[in-house]
Parts: sequence; structure tokens; C-alpha cells
Amino acid sequence: MKRIAILTGGGDAPGLNAVLRAVVRTAIGEYDCEVLGIRQGYEGLLNDDGVIPLEWRTVSGILHQGGTILGAANRGNPFARKVERDGETVIEDVSDEIVAAIKALELDALLVAGGDGTLRIARELYDKGVPVIGIPKTIDNDVGGTERTFGFDTAVSIATEAIDRLHTTAESHHRVMILELMGRDAGFITLHAGMSGGADVILIPEIPFYFEAICNKVQARRDRGRNASIIVVSEGAHPHGEQQVFSRAGDEVYTARLGGIGFAVGKFIESVCKAESRVTVLGHIQRGGTPTAYDRWLATRFGAGAVRLAAQERYGHMMALQCGAIVDTPLAEALAEPKVVNINSDAVVTARGMGIAFGDEVSTTK
Ligand code: F6P
Repeated sequence: MKRIAILTGGGDAPGLNAVLRAVVRTAIGEYDCEVLGIRQGYEGLLNDDGVIPLEWRTVSGILHQGGTILGAANRGNPFARKVERDGETVIEDVSDEIVAAIKALELDALLVAGGDGTLRIARELYDKGVPVIGIPKTIDNDVGGTERTFGFDTAVSIATEAIDRLHTTAESHHRVMILELMGRDAGFITLHAGMSGGADVILIPEIPFYFEAICNKVQARRDRGRNASIIVVSEGAHPHGEQQVFSRAGDEVYTARLGGIGFAVGKFIESVCKAESRVTVLGHIQRGGTPTAYDRWLATRFGAGAVRLAAQERYGHMMALQCGAIVDTPLAEALAEPKVVNINSDAVVTARGMGIAFGDEVSTTK
């Protein structure tokens, strides 16, 4: 193995720099292999200054830093790229240009650190003959085939701290505090942070809710003299029989942006439950800043493992965590179905047993 390249695509996630460091140091240290970095996701392959050498010293001092020194882009799909042609904006498939650019670099492997969207593109490039290796990252933890993606643990820690802080102000003012969290169509961040932070109501996309059930829970607590309540709601959660709430529509290039369900819940709490409420949307704070030790640990193992996989020419595969061990799995299998919360898992059963409402309860007595 003489030369490999790595790109970080999609939204950034804490731990990406740890991956870059592990890839560069393993490639140089174990294989004496040259490493190139591609800037701004797949876009870098189309730009003159988009490819840079990554050396041992390039990745010094970045282990604890959030973001990615290569930059990321979640609108750089080469199969549907917005371009200007004769003064008009058109959508073009530039994947052949990408494949040609990769060939020109004479790579033994292209390592792609990304979430669902970026890894799907990697899979399509693999079908076009590109020797790709996937590395799953996303705060949402919604990539199949792996128990964890790095970035998730940091997001959960940040969200849990936010809940801790909301508890004290909720108690002071006897308010219902609502915290809207990220996660797209998967409720992992909300479920984990909600349970770790002691939320009273957890609303996730996998369990459509009834506004009345939330109100019943808040009222049941007030009847017991507990005037403060904490509701955590995933951005993708939605009432029974209703659509998710979007803050911006999607198109051929941009994915629709979820957001606003927290305010809908808050409005209902105030108007129908007659309880004072405040809404916090935690947003990108969940994605920024220092990765937790766990995310650095996982990202480092994934990065080193991806280089070893490249050396074995196991292209079209992705790193994964299964039963605590670092393994690899075919991208096609991992991406076959999006990973979502199992609503019969011990976590959900435990939460319900402890009186946490998910908004689907017909009557709330606890
Ligand atoms: O996939 C990660 C994620 O942070 C989601 O949880 C969220 O819906 C989305 O990305 C936000 O994307 P953007 O950074 O484009 O606003």
C-alpha cells in the first residue's frame, strides 16, 4: 500500500480529528504509506487546491479538537451537484469526474468518514470501481451495522448537561422546560440524554405521541405537588397521524431541515395544560467542541482499523463496533436499512417502568 486518501463528509461530528490522526499515524507508522487529505468532503476532488498531504506533524495536537481540519460539506453529493451553466442553476451528476480525479491520484484506497448520506455516496462510488473504505460517524448514531458511531457520546453528554441545567431553573420558576434535540429520524440522542438527565417526558420519532398524553403527565405531576417538569423532544418526533415539523424544505441537493416540534409542544402546554413553559433548541452545540474520551477512543480505533482494512484490500466495507469489538461489515449491508431506536429495547422498557412518559400512553397515572 503506497498512497491512501481520506475525506470527512456530511455534518461534522466530535471525533473526526481523532480519526484523521489515527489514520495518518497508522498509515505512516505501520505501513510507511503516504496519506492525502481531501478538503470539504467530495468537493475537494473537484477543486485545484482540494487535496493536501497529511503528515505526522499535520495531525499533532488535534486529538481533543472538535470539527475537522479537512472541513466537511453536507451538500457535496457528486451524483446531484448544483452547478451554474450559462447563467442557470442546474443539477448534474459529476460522479464520473470524481472517479477520474480519484484515479489520477493513484490511490490504493479512499477512506470516507461520514454518516448515512456520505457513506451511501461512498457505496455508489465503490460500484463505479473506487476502492472505498467507510468510517461511520454521526452524532445521530443512526448508521446500521455498528452499535455506535463516534460523535454520539459527545452529543449525549452535552444534551445531558443541558437537561441538568434546565432542572434547576425549572424548579425555581415552577415551569415546564422543553428541550429540542437533534437526531433526524432516530431518537437515540433524546432517549439516552433524557434517561441520563432525568426527563419526565421523552418524545422520539419512533414513538408518535399524543399532545394530551404529555399534558396528562404534566398534570399528574402537578397533582402531586411537582410543578416543574422536563420534556425532551427529538427534532424528528411527531404527533400521532401527523407529519414531522420542518424549518426548511428540501430539494434535489439539500435535505429538508427538521426543527420546530419543541415550540409546538410548548404552545400546547401553555394553551391547553395552562402551565408556563419555555423552549430551548440545543442545535449545533451538540456537534461542536471537544469530543468525550469515549468518542476519541472509538474514532481512534475506527481510523486505525480502516487503514488495516485498506491494506487487506477489503474495499466496499465499513468499520463497525459489534459486541465491543472493532470489526468490518459490507457497506451495502450496513446501509440497507436506517438504524432507529428499538421501542421494545430494555432502555425504553426501563424508562417506562420508572414513570417516564413517551407521549403514547392512553392515561398517565405515575
Ligand atoms: O446528522 C447530524 C445532524 O446534526 C442532525 O442531527 C441534524 O438534523 C442535521 O445534522 C443538521 O444539519 P445542518 O448542520 O445542515 O444544519
